[in-house]
Amino acid sequence: MIQKVKPSDSLQGTLSPPPDKSISQRAAIFSLLHEGTSVIKNFSSAQDPQSSLECVEALGAEVIRDKDSVSIKGIGRSGIKAPEDDLDCGNSGTAMRLLAGVIAGSGKQVRMCGDASLTSRTMTRIIEPLEKMGAYILARNSAYAPLMITREEKLKPMDFELPIPSAQLKSCILLAGLFGETATRVIETIPSRDHTERLLQLKVKEEKGKKIISASLNDEIPNQSYTVPGDFSAAAFWLVAGCIIPNSEITLEATGLNPTRNALLGILQEMGANITIENERMEGAEPVGDIVVRSSDLRAINIPKSIIPNCIDELPILAVAMSFAEGISVISGAEELRHKETDRIMAISEMLKAAGVSFEEKEDGVEIHGNPEFSFDSATFKSFHDHRIAMASAILSLKGKSESEILDAECAAVSYPGFWEDLLALYP
Ligand code: S3P
Repeated sequence: MIQKVKPSDSLQGTLSPPPDKSISQRAAIFSLLHEGTSVIKNFSSAQDPQSSLECVEALGAEVIRDKDSVSIKGIGRSGIKAPEDDLDCGNSGTAMRLLAGVIAGSGKQVRMCGDASLTSRTMTRIIEPLEKMGAYILARNSAYAPLMITREEKLKPMDFELPIPSAQLKSCILLAGLFGETATRVIETIPSRDHTERLLQLKVKEEKGKKIISASLNDEIPNQSYTVPGDFSAAAFWLVAGCIIPNSEITLEATGLNPTRNALLGILQEMGANITIENERMEGAEPVGDIVVRSSDLRAINIPKSIIPNCIDELPILAVAMSFAEGISVISGAEELRHKETDRIMAISEMLKAAGVSFEEKEDGVEIHGNPEFSFDSATFKSFHDHRIAMASAILSLKGKSESEILDAECAAVSYPGFWEDLLALYP
């Protein structure tokens, strides 16, 4: 689908961002492991969480889908079944990496597959530690899905210091650890999103600046009945749009404000953004609030490597904000972006190039020469079938002089099925 986007000189309105993708996926997977029924309200209808839900069903959970809630009858760790067919994770790295931990822990033999993007992303980061725990994983070219996972030896709990700050890797090892008679301990030096430890209520301690999270068979899996917050990563598109489009005021209701996810808020505020938070509260284990953004004069910023994991999914849209910020902005230490749904450093560069933004691509990020007065005529943006690139290109299109187009724009539905309708609703 080719999506056309008209420029706008104002955006106004109130939106509820779609349900959080990371939390919805965890809610589904953790409900499978809980013995009993969890009722999850505001469960995401986006493709990735729906892939997780189908996988959980294939592994033995009973799933009842209602309008915007799901009821999942879990079977506990000992009840997991090996499906006859491949477990299809679609486009979702979270589904594949988290469920690989569950399968390795369970000792069942399961073959996991995914779409063209997912089967081209390296799984080495989970294969090596899971094999240390006693799993046997047969991967295409030793690194890529399809993955055949099994375990003949006894599960070997371990202490694992995260070699990269990845919440998917952290969660994978903790989930495998939940099947061990003694504790598996994951040691984290650079914080990544902490939904897994929050929602599973795992034991966490701090030692010499490191965070140590433990998981074993002795940990009870809590019921996962809660309301999923709005996705901060989806709200991010409107936060930047609200800043860079004049005469704008956008309110984003009930949006997740988990501090390990929302570094973009602080970054934009440091850039001069006019953003306020109202009505802060807890929704289950997660903080939420309403965010109000108004047109702002942005200045350049340098993003330190240490906070990259806390804004990793927001970097494509941050690059758009930087294009309109006075001065030179730098994103560095973000080589992880090359391993996302597409090589996102390449995709961000192509997006900026299509609009004529002045920038330099680096191996581990991008340097952007911003200009608040920057505009362009119109552009054709390639999404590279990557939802976040399609949506970031849409926001950039608002700053053109005439209508731009985004190719393969349907991929937005991987995380945000109503994105194009929400965008139209904000035009005055
Ligand atoms: C996710 C973690 C991040 C993020 C992804 C979702 C999760 O990946 O980019 O969209 O739900 O755990 P990494 O932890 O691998 O960086």
